[in-house]
Amino acid sequence: MKVLVTGASGYIGSHACLELLRAGHEVVGFDNLSNSSQTSMDRVRGLARGPLRFEKLDLLDKPGLEKIMALGFDAVMHFAGLKAVGESVEKPDLYRRNNVDGSANLLAAMKTAGCRRLVFSSSCTVYGEVKKNPVDESHPRGAVNPYGRTKLDIEDMCFELARAEKGWRIALLRYFNPVGADAGGRIGEDPHGLPNNLMPFVMQTAVGRREKVRVFGADYPTPDGTGVRDYIHVTDLALGHIAALDRLDVFDGAEAVNLGAGRGYSVLEVIKAASKAAGKDIPYEISPRRPGDSAAIWADPTFAKKKLGWSAARGLGEMCADAWRWQRDNPEGYGA
Ligand SMILES: NC(=O)c1ccc[n+]([C@@H]2O[C@H](COP(=O)([O-])OP(=O)(O)OC[C@H]3O[C@@H](n4cnc5c(N)ncnc54)[C@H](O)[C@@H]3O)[C@@H](O)[C@H]2O)c1
Repeated sequence: MKVLVTGASGYIGSHACLELLRAGHEVVGFDNLSNSSQTSMDRVRGLARGPLRFEKLDLLDKPGLEKIMALGFDAVMHFAGLKAVGESVEKPDLYRRNNVDGSANLLAAMKTAGCRRLVFSSSCTVYGEVKKNPVDESHPRGAVNPYGRTKLDIEDMCFELARAEKGWRIALLRYFNPVGADAGGRIGEDPHGLPNNLMPFVMQTAVGRREKVRVFGADYPTPDGTGVRDYIHVTDLALGHIAALDRLDVFDGAEAVNLGAGRGYSVLEVIKAASKAAGKDIPYEISPRRPGDSAAIWADPTFAKKKLGWSAARGLGEMCADAWRWQRDNPEGYGA
């Protein structure tokens, strides 16, 4: 298939481009490079043979989107978006404009071009405050911050569009916590500024870029008191996208599917596994809970298995080993 990938040079987008090429697809990617480096695309080209074209383009550039969509695609994978929860609280308008308006522009350009097949990066954040674990797709949705609100709004836009017009096939993939890197150690997570997520923070500490990991809360009702999350290897996640692409025909309009491993690990378990992978103790300190964080959330991955024939295969040890290889070989990320 010929696939357009938005947010192609970002963390998950670059891994998806790599797996698309490995699966024999033709890829055109774009990104505005606000949170990524074009070097990731050069590295993907080095890891997989196959056609990969990259353009610098912004979701808010409507004529640019129409022009690129006119190249003709079988499907679109939509990763582009801002994702920092804290920043979204400070700049809700920016998040709405970039993520929601940007996605509306993309859908409009797809419609004009006659392409109605989409795989979208949603998130388990759409489950809001978790009522019970594991979380399946019927769990009530809610937004606990403006970032989460953008994911809800984009999902709703897709549901409404698919109800209103025949022919749309949309997979709303609700990711849990993607971590790790391609096993080759050439591409990985390289957030601009202070990492928002645990794993890059842990790895940047292991490599000496940060003094210690701050663990937010050790008094949760979990086995060791720290927060429990469902971590999924980014390669498993990318393969979940390929599975969704292959099965879009069996989607009934727009449908949501969890992409998670189906089990939770605590923050301290992650630090321990990362220390083992890095061969050194990673220093940490316990800090107060962060407002808005839940004690525990992990996925019920049953529907993904049924709908996509996909399940996560890589465990925490492999996630940490691959994340460490990337960080060790690229201590300053793509900036080195
Ligand atoms: N990483 C996670 O923990 C996680 C979890 C759930 C969902 N998601 C979603 O997955 C997607 C990819 O996340 P990621 O971790 O790869 O983040 P990322 O920041 O590495 O990638 C997103 C990319 O989108 C680009 N971008 C942002 N706004 C753009 C715009 N207006 N036009 C063009 N490009 C733009 C950025 O430059 C970046 O390269 C995002 O939509 C994110 O919300 C991520």
